[in-house]
Amino acid sequence: MQVLSVTPEIFPLIKTGGLADVTGALPIALGPKGVAIRTLVPGYPVVMAAFAKKKAVYQYPLLQGGKASIHAVKIGDLDLFVLDAPHLFGRQGGPYGTASGADWPDNWRRFAALSQAGGDIAGGAISGYQPDIVHAHDWQSAMTLAYMRYGKAVGVPSLITVHNLAFQGQFGAGIFGELGLPAVAMQLDGVEYYGGVGYLKAGLQAAWAITTVSPTYAQEIRSPEFGMGLDGLINMRATDLHGIVNGIDVDIWNPETDKHLVANYSADTLAARAKNRKAVEERFGLEADGSPIVCVVSRLTWQKGMDILAAVVDGIVAAGARLAILGSGDAGLEGTLLAAAARHRGRVGVVVGYDEGLSHTMQGGCDAIVIPSRFEPCGLTQLYGLRYGCVPVVARTGGLADTIIDANEAALTAGVATGFQFAPNNGGAMLHAIQRLVEVHARPAVWASIQRQGMKADVSWDKSAEKYVELYRLLLSKRAA
Ligand code: ADP
Ligand code: GLC
Repeated sequence: MQVLSVTPEIFPLIKTGGLADVTGALPIALGPKGVAIRTLVPGYPVVMAAFAKKKAVYQYPLLQGGKASIHAVKIGDLDLFVLDAPHLFGRQGGPYGTASGADWPDNWRRFAALSQAGGDIAGGAISGYQPDIVHAHDWQSAMTLAYMRYGKAVGVPSLITVHNLAFQGQFGAGIFGELGLPAVAMQLDGVEYYGGVGYLKAGLQAAWAITTVSPTYAQEIRSPEFGMGLDGLINMRATDLHGIVNGIDVDIWNPETDKHLVANYSADTLAARAKNRKAVEERFGLEADGSPIVCVVSRLTWQKGMDILAAVVDGIVAAGARLAILGSGDAGLEGTLLAAAARHRGRVGVVVGYDEGLSHTMQGGCDAIVIPSRFEPCGLTQLYGLRYGCVPVVARTGGLADTIIDANEAALTAGVATGFQFAPNNGGAMLHAIQRLVEVHARPAVWASIQRQGMKADVSWDKSAEKYVELYRLLLSKRAA
């Protein structure tokens, strides 16, 4: 089975969050199951630098304002189609904006172009390649499904995975004329959204099936509280909606072999984590006193509940825990957290920035990872935490609720607990969970059993990859019908 995946990010080439981890890991997980995934990605500078330009497999004399071409390349284990369009993607900065964080003003054009290329490939533009299924991810590639629907690929089954409903790609009606879609597309059941053009909305409307990245989030987005205005449409499509929890790449995230760790370890050699803890203490300027180090590895945003955390830092310190925070994002939050670190020298350390290697060391050396998200489609850092014996403390929402078993008395007695959950998501409840954590941490045998139980959990792609295969098969049967 041939699947064309269309995505704005893919690990290890270009990553701003979990989306990249997922689009990078799925092809590797699905390959052995008979699904060959080829991924269409934008030719950002880092992507173009990763291969020697060969002859293009497709040329556009004009695509959204400039010349463009598609290159078929293999980079590492990934089979890619790279959309080389220097006028859209050949810029320094992030995939969506400048280095200082401002969105590119022509993002509508950039991701329309990516999607148009996706639609063209689905329609047979590249000789010798015809995908059986097209799989789009988030708003940046959602329009692929609209280009398919209003173009040549209307009969090709399609799927959109919603990684985050908060980002929808909504633009003014004025752009419609430049999208190259027929006038009929500008309708309520097409790309039109509240008088403008909605990219994610268009994808949700056109997709043969919709998935999101955990069963709980799939339910939550049907409610006004989590639906971000799209709950009506999502409810209309409820029979085609599936929640499939993310896995992680257990080869990249393996404490026994991880090169980013000072010391490798397994569930049987947890004491070796002490060397990694020492590295974290040094990097974050923390006193070495045996109290639990709770870490944060996160975008610093409202979604991630970082303001809730910032408001209870004093309480966390008073409870006897230390904090090591790695993150970047909202400038106000960065400032608040840095101020908290200055107030609590030796107890709270903050590194502002994005550091893949350090994120591994933290999972391998900290005692716990706190994830107070207001909503969380799946969340990956709690899965890395499970795998590394870095006990997750999570808000009971979305994928966090689905993947962590709270250490309540019953679960502790049964030996099944893997972390701590709290609800509702407010400072008081979070603080209470951290106080519980500090108490349990003081009982080393119980603590180690929670760590080992987490390390035993199956966080690989195996089961979820199987669910994607089943869904792909279902879609193929619909095409045949
Ligand atoms: P989201 O995609 O919403 O940000 P996820 O938990 O799914 O949340 O994925 C976040 C990914 O980004 C994880 O791989 C995490 O380790 C990584 N990450 C987030 N912030 C940082 C950071 N400051 N430095 C390094 N890695 C980070
Ligand atoms: C999004 C979500 C996160 C999820 C990731 C990968 O960024 O915020 O919860 O884990 O996508 O699916």
